[in-house]
Order: sequence, then C-alpha cells, then structure tokens
Amino acid sequence: MEYGAQFKDFSYCLTKDIDLLLVLRVSSLEGAKEQRPINEVPIDPSLLLSELNLSLPSQRSDLYVTCQLFADNKPLTVAVRTPYKQFKNRWVWNEWITVPIKYKDLPANSQLAFTVWDIASPRKTVPIGGTTLQLFTKNNAMRKGRQKLYLWPDVEADGGIYTTTPSKIPERDEMDRLEKLVKKHESGDLPRLDWLDNLAFREIEKIHNKETAKSTKMFLYIDLPKFDFPLIYSEQEYPLPNTPLHEPSLVVIADPEMSSENPVEAKHRRLVRSHRNGPLDRDLKPNAKIRDDLNIILKYPPTQSLTTEEKDLLWKFRFYLTRDKKALTKFLKCVVWTDATEVKQAVDLLPTWADIDVDDALELLGPGFENHSVRGYAVNQLKKADDDDLLLYLLQLVQALKFEGIDTRRNNGQMSSLTEFLIERAIRNPVLGNNFHWYLMVECEDKTLGKMYGKVAFQYMSAMMEISSGHVRRDVLRRQGELMKNILSIAKELRDSKETRLKKIERLRAIISDPKSGLSSFPPLPLPLDAKVQVTAIIPEKSTIFKSSLMPLKLTFQCVDGTEYPVMFKTGDDLRQDQLVIQIITLMDKLLRKENLDLKLTPYKVLATGSDHGLIQHIPSKSLAAVLAEHNNSLLSFLRENNPDNRASSYYGVSPAVMDAYIKSCAGYCVITYLLGVGDRHLDNLLLSPNGRLFHIDFGFILGRDPKPFPPPMKLCKEMVEAMGGQSSPHYQRFKSYCYSAFTILRKSANLILNLFALMVNANITDIAIEPDKAVTKVQEKFRLDLTEEEAIQYFQNLINDSVSALFPQLMETVHKWAQYWRK
Ligand SMILES: *[C@@H]1O[C@H](CO)[C@@H](O)[C@H](O)[C@H]1NC(C)=O
Ligand SMILES: *[C@@H]1O[C@H](CO)[C@@H](O)[C@H](O)[C@H]1NC(C)=O
Ligand SMILES: *[C@@H]1O[C@H](CO)[C@@H](O)[C@H](O)[C@H]1NC(C)=O
Ligand SMILES: *[C@@H]1O[C@H](CO)[C@@H](O)[C@H](O)[C@H]1NC(C)=O
Repeated sequence: MEYGAQFKDFSYCLTKDIDLLLVLRVSSLEGAKEQRPINEVPIDPSLLLSELNLSLPSQRSDLYVTCQLFADNKPLTVAVRTPYKQFKNRWVWNEWITVPIKYKDLPANSQLAFTVWDIASPRKTVPIGGTTLQLFTKNNAMRKGRQKLYLWPDVEADGGIYTTTPSKIPERDEMDRLEKLVKKHESGDLPRLDWLDNLAFREIEKIHNKETAKSTKMFLYIDLPKFDFPLIYSEQEYPLPNTPLHEPSLVVIADPEMSSENPVEAKHRRLVRSHRNGPLDRDLKPNAKIRDDLNIILKYPPTQSLTTEEKDLLWKFRFYLTRDKKALTKFLKCVVWTDATEVKQAVDLLPTWADIDVDDALELLGPGFENHSVRGYAVNQLKKADDDDLLLYLLQLVQALKFEGIDTRRNNGQMSSLTEFLIERAIRNPVLGNNFHWYLMVECEDKTLGKMYGKVAFQYMSAMMEISSGHVRRDVLRRQGELMKNILSIAKELRDSKETRLKKIERLRAIISDPKSGLSSFPPLPLPLDAKVQVTAIIPEKSTIFKSSLMPLKLTFQCVDGTEYPVMFKTGDDLRQDQLVIQIITLMDKLLRKENLDLKLTPYKVLATGSDHGLIQHIPSKSLAAVLAEHNNSLLSFLRENNPDNRASSYYGVSPAVMDAYIKSCAGYCVITYLLGVGDRHLDNLLLSPNGRLFHIDFGFILGRDPKPFPPPMKLCKEMVEAMGGQSSPHYQRFKSYCYSAFTILRKSANLILNLFALMVNANITDIAIEPDKAVTKVQEKFRLDLTEEEAIQYFQNLINDSVSALFPQLMETVHKWAQYWRK
C-alpha cells in the first residue's frame, strides 16, 4: 500500500498492488418488466405479469445474471454467473461472485458487462436486459459500494468501448439524487446524525417503493467492495525479458503472439535455420536426448502451440523427420509462411514425407494452413479414405471449403483442390452426393459465405451434367428439393393456424391423401435424410403432429422395399447443432466398433434442410419420464414387460441380451455426453427403446453450456442406476468397465475428433459460435490428454463415483446440487 506523500490526511491504494481477485455482489433487479410467457406457450393473459414486484411467487422463472469483464472491445475473462436461486417476492440474489481477474491486472478502461437471463424454454435462454459499467471513474478511481445500473431491455450487455448499453443514462429523477446522497452518506462524506438519518432513510425507502412501482425502467443493483482507501488505477509493470524491444511501461493485454514477428527473433531464426546451409541438415541425426524431445513434441495435441525452441528443433531435423508420418503437421507449424525461401523448402519436402493419416490431413485443411500446395497435399492424402469414412467427415470437409480461399468474383472454371476432390467423390457415390448437396444448400443461406457455397454448388451441378446419367441425378436432387419445399409449406401452414392439434392432424392427413399434393404416391426417390433408402409415398394415417410448441410433423414414409421409415420434420428450429452432435456420435460409434466394442448406440439420422428446418429419423421409443410414469417409477419393469424372461439365467426377469444392450448404451452415452459437454438433460430427452437401448435426443446445449445450474459431469440419473440393480450390482460394475473402455478407446482418437471440431469453428453452430476459438479446447479438456491411460481411468472412475454418490441418499452436501439437477 502506498500513501500519498504530500497529503497527510489523504491516502490511497494502487490497483497494481492488489493481488486479489475482483469480487462483487449481485444484489437485485428492480423495476417493471413484462414477464415472458413460460415455455413460449400461447400467450395466456394470466401469465403476463405487468410488474415483477407484484407477481406470483410460483410464476417467477429462474433468472440469473452473467458478468464478464471487457476492455478494448475484448473480453478479458469468461462470463461468470450467479448461482441458482429460487425467487419468491422479489428478484434478489445478494450473491458474491468472483470475476477471474486480479485487481492488479485490470486495465484502466475495464468494463463489467452484466446480462440478466431468463430461461424461456428448455432449449433457450433469452436476455431480459444488459448493462455495462465502467469500473473506473474519469479520475481513475475504482467505483465502490452500491451501483445502480440501468438495464437495457431485451439485449445482452455490449462490452465494446462505445457500448450500446451504458449503465448510466442521462435522465435524472428524484431517486437518483437521493441514491447519490445515500452513497455519500455511506462513504462518510456526509456528517452523520443517527436519529435524523433514520428518519431520512425511512422516507427514502417510501419514495423508492413509489418510484419503483411507477417506473417502467429496470435497474440492476450490484455492490462493489468498499476498501478503506480509494483504489486508484495504476499500470502494472510487466517484466518482458524475451522481448527487449517493448517499452517497459506498455501494458500488454492481448495475446503477445498476435503482434507481428519480432525483428530480433526473425534474425535469430534465420541464423538458426541457416537457409543457405540447408543441405547440411539433410544427414543430421538427433542423439538420444533430442530424439526424446522430438517425440514429446510429436505427441502434442493439435491445439498446442510450439515454442520458438521447439520450432527451431523441428526445422533443424526436418529431413530426419520426413520418415515419421506424425511429424508433418508439427513441422508445418514451424514454417514461417511469410518467408518465401522457407516456404519453398517446406513445400519441396512434402512429396518426400511418409504418407500421413487422415486425421492429420484434416488438420492441414483447417484455418491454420493457407498455402495451396499444403492443402493440395492434404487433399491427396484424403483420397485414400473410403466412401464410408468420407461420409463421416463430409460435414467438416464442406466447412473446410471456407479456408480454401475460393474467390467468388472470378469465374475462370478453376476449382480449389478440395472442391475438385469433393465433387469428384460426390459424383461417384450418389449417397455421398446427396449429403454433399444438402450440406451445400444450407450453407448457401449463410450471409457472408453463401455466395462461395453457391459457386461450389454450381460447379457440382456442371460437373454432374458431364457424366452420362447426370441429368437423372440432377433430377433426383430437384425432386428432393420440391418434396422438402412442399412439406415445409404444409408444416408452416399447420403451425400458424389456430386450430386444435386434433383438427390439424386431420388436415395434415387430408393434405397428404389429396392426390394433388403428390405426397401419397410418387416415383421412387432417395430420402434426403438417408439416401440409401428409396421412398415412394407418405402414409397419411401414420402421419401426425407432435405435442410441442414448434408442432413438428411426424411423417411415415413408405419405402420401396416394403418397410416404413418414420421421420420428424421440424420447422422453426436450427438443427445444425444436433446434426453435428449426431455425426460425432456416429463417428465415435465407428471408432468403438473398430475396437470390437459395440455399445448399442442409436445414432439416428439428422439432416438440416435449411437454417431453420430439417428432418430427424424417428426411433420407436419412450422418454424416461413417460416410462417411469407408466411403470411404477421403474425402468426395469418397462424392460421386463417388453422382454419377459422367466429362466434362471435372466437378470431381474429381463432377458440378458436386453439388459446387455441397456448397460452398454448407458455407458456409451455417458462417455459421449461427457466428452461433448451435452447439457440440459432431463427425463424427457433421454429415451429408451423396448429392446433396452437408451439414447439421448435434443442437443441444444453442448460444450458445457447448460440452462440449469450445477450440471454434473456425468449425465447419469438415479433411475438409470437403479435399473442396473443399484450401485452394488454386478451390472453396475460392468457398466463402469464399459465406460472406462470407451473412454480409453476414444482418447486414442482424440486428435481426429479435435481436428474435426477445429474445422467447425466458422460453422454457424450456436454453441461453437459463442466462443469459436475455445470450442476445440472445451472438448480437449474433457479428454485429459495430460494424464496417462491409467490415470485417465482413475479420473473417470472418480467422476462417475462422484456423480452417482450425489444421487443416492448417503449423499455429501457438496454434491447435493448435482442431485438437484435432475429435478424439473
Ligand atoms: C505456397 O507455397 C509455394 C511454394 O512452392 C508458393 O509458390 C506459393 O506461392 C505459396 N502459395 C501461397 C498462397 O502462399
Ligand atoms: C446463422 O444462423 C442464424 C439462424 O440460425 C441466422 O440468423 C444468422 O444470420 C446466421 N449467420 C450467418 C452469418 O449467416
Ligand atoms: C409399485 O411400487 C411399490 C413400491 O416400490 C410397490 O409397493 C407396489 O406394489 C408397486 N405397484 C405395482 C403395480 O407394481
Ligand atoms: C466411490 O465413492 C464411495 C463413497 O461414495 C467410496 O466409498 C468409494 O471408495 C469410491 N470409489 C472410488 C473408486 O473412488
């Protein structure tokens, strides 16, 4: 602490001396605001509460507040949120939250961005309002004590320098004046006179209540800590030993790697990399110690950035490394792409390198590698993937087109190497071609890159017309498009009409039956959702409308082979995130099967046919909520009823095969939902098939996002464990060992999965778009690649143990909250 030397009675404290995390208290929300109708049900006037302060306790939804620190238009911390709280009469949190930044690291233009959120529906949170507070005053003093922040309705707080949601609005009322005085009083700037102060406070309270009642504005009240001394902003002196060119007083906030190359380092690099003597490196062999160092670098996950020393080492031994297929992506990371000599040397090495695996090829198609020679090399390596594998990666490869540098202004018929490759394979295999077409169609809607995808789609069609059956193939895609357009307009019309659901179902069936619609019978057509299946009609009496606010249609297609294919058609919902999750589950299923582990997963098909509509395969099953309601709270009794087995070999009267499927599928989804950070789990989006397969649906929240507080890491509910016979049963032990096997196998393919996520960073997918740069890390953290296999199993064991202990009565207080999660 420093004291102002000249002023005897004035002391202050500098922020740079405070090595504490910033804390603040979110107090309350005051003011009027119409409450949103719960779950977006048709508007019911009794639910529309004109004033928060008077609303009925039971109808208060669970608002929460997020707070994030910004400076220079950049977020400096992640958003932190208030814990879960139930509200009775007023929106009062009174919760201290810790912002993960220390006082000493606060820049002078720090702003706290607060947003109040409401959970509008299980899949969606909406902002009630936002407000942005300048942490320091004009005089560089940190604000302290109670702050009244004007809440801009219906928007998220804007953390930008010229924020659109400033916490102070110019308009002054009586309350503002009084609040200012109270604050002065609190900080001892007014003479105190207790009896008079008390009278005044009572009066102020009255005025406050009156003002609040008639005000249409909302205010968020927060409290900043009151230090004994004024807290004055001061710059931190950063030690910058490696970068002597920086002025010592410069405050480095941004990632230092963002700055352009340091000339001293560049010089050093050129010296170390000694271009002219390059040929001497050719026969260089590492000694045992260096070999170990290199092996450690080669084992790094794709997200890890390399240090200058590591880069120089890789460069030095580049000729030696060409025999190791795992080394190429690491080597290419050490190339300085602005240095033409170096680029030429690197590109010349490519043909001599050992053939790389597909997962590495996918990394080279990501945003980090722009050089066409490198991308062309990666595409060449991809050619060895068979059609089934390619289908698994196609969603990401279509995203990778974004990094190809395709120029939409010139139309010289030239294709990028990836475009050419995808088109060639799409033409060779109609199933691949079907998905390629639909992925492109959705991307064409993109506001910024739609044009580029339009160009690729055009090139695809042009190439298709050059093969002999081209016009037939094109006609199929055209008819699919018409079918979807037809269904979309029916779905929209039914959704917007005011009839009852039963009336709508009647009308849906009438429309399908009407020969004019062309839906009750048509020439065989590959189903867009699953092009291996040829359909020829929609069966009217097996089509219906689901009970849900978005009114999705259930359509049962008649297949050419006599089977039926039920699907759900949804409008008003962006299915791209679900599509991605299902694709990753399909991939993981394949990886597990390759290791002879069939966990009886149900990767049903999902296809976004537009940015707000799409098809979902419908699997006959029941939600756990329904099963529990109908079967005396027991999943076992449901399985028993569907698969009775009276033999001694049965498990609790259930046939062993069904119990096996149940246990394996529980384990599979437990691991996968953990890895993907699937949130918002409840008994309505966990389904159970009569054959014992359990599966998850609705992936509106992933990568750790969850509308409910305290999500447990493992999405295992009590009833799931009970159906295995409880924690001490041998089935539960088997369940756990399947979990460990699955986790271990998937960890071995972590790089493939991470590279696929890396290709999605620019995809318009909700939970990726929130923090695109962190999407890959969020998945990577789950793999715990820092642990050995043994440690990883131990870690996973503890996770399951903790999550499950929380569900049963002997529970510990700390994990009690995880048990709460499953309550509705
Ligand atoms: C890629 O590298 C090659 C080196 O042979 C160079 O000729 C080419 O200009 C580079 N392309 C880009 C886009 O940097
Ligand atoms: C992303 O998708 C949403 C709808 O899901 C749309 O409103 C938005 O414009 C899209 N963004 C771009 C860049 O196309
Ligand atoms: C339902 O369960 C309870 C206790 O778990 C049991 O007493 C009751 O007999 C069961 N009812 C049926 C119909 O199985
Ligand atoms: C799991 O938790 C229980 C207590 O809930 C404990 O007794 C047991 O040792 C734990 N097992 C492991 C493997 O951590």
